[in-house]
Parts: sequence; structure tokens; C-alpha cells
Amino acid sequence: MFRPDQMAADLKTILRKYKQGRREDLIPLLQEIQADTGFLSEEAIVRVGSHLGLSTTKIYGLATFYDQFRFIPSGKVHFKICHGTSCFLNGSQGLIDKFREELKIAPGQTTRSGNFSVEVVPCMGGCYHGPVIMVNGEYQIHVRPEQVPDLIKRLKHIIENV
Ligand code: FES
Repeated sequence: MFRPDQMAADLKTILRKYKQGRREDLIPLLQEIQADTGFLSEEAIVRVGSHLGLSTTKIYGLATFYDQFRFIPSGKVHFKICHGTSCFLNGSQGLIDKFREELKIAPGQTTRSGNFSVEVVPCMGGCYHGPVIMVNGEYQIHVRPEQVPDLIKRLKHIIENV
């Protein structure tokens, strides 16, 4: 379960690894925080700003330039849809559209229920098996748009019965 005090402790540990005032560390630092917590909270942005000597406006400006950063928490189930060249040629756009249609959210968003979130990512290293998606870190290969409704239904059932 999410605990704000735990997050603060983790953030402190991560910040300690980076020298104060070294602005060139901004992106790796944000990447590490996101890898740890799943998104960049307002608190994290503020603390990174004071650690590196950057304004929060500047950090948001730079971070929003990169598609990889999220500013809201992920859903209980987080989908990563590969949109690298090979997956694109194998129909990843159809998958992105189907997830959008089924969940009523755009990539980068989380459903109001907090159950699902979607992210579109570059190559995930499984190009021969595209289109590839990741469901909470687990690969699913050769995914077709027509499989998406059933996949979501099954996962919803699991979430609601845990
Ligand atoms: S392009 Fe999708 S896994 Fe490489």
C-alpha cells in the first residue's frame, strides 16, 4: 500500500545519490524517481528543484518535453504499449486506439477508478513478436486489438476480486 512517509524516505535516498547543484543530473534523477514511484509527484519536483537549484517551472518544462514522464500515479494495472518501428509496422496504432476506446483515456492518463493506466513507449526489445505490450511489467506478444476488450475484462475481474 502507498505510504507518503515511505515515499519521502525513498526520495531522500535517491536524492542523496546525486550531487547538489549538478543540473545535468536532472533527467537521470527524474528517471530514477519515476522508476521507483511510478510517477513524478509535485513534492518530488519541488525537492528535486531545491536539490539541483532549478525552479519547478523549469523542471516541469523540461520533463513535459520528454514523453516518458508521468505526473499522476499509475493505475493498479499499468499498460505499456510499444510504438517502436517494428511494433508500429505490425499494427501498434490499432492497439493504442483500442485501449483508448475501451478505457476512455489517452496515453499518459489513468482511469478515474484508478484501475488502469496506459503509456505509449518506444521499443521494448521484443521486436520479432510485435505488437508488444507490457502489463504491470509482464510482456504480452502478438497482441491484436480484438483481444483488448477481453484482456481488460479479465484484469478488471481480478482487480475487483482481490
Ligand atoms: S519495436 Fe516494439 S518491441 Fe521493438
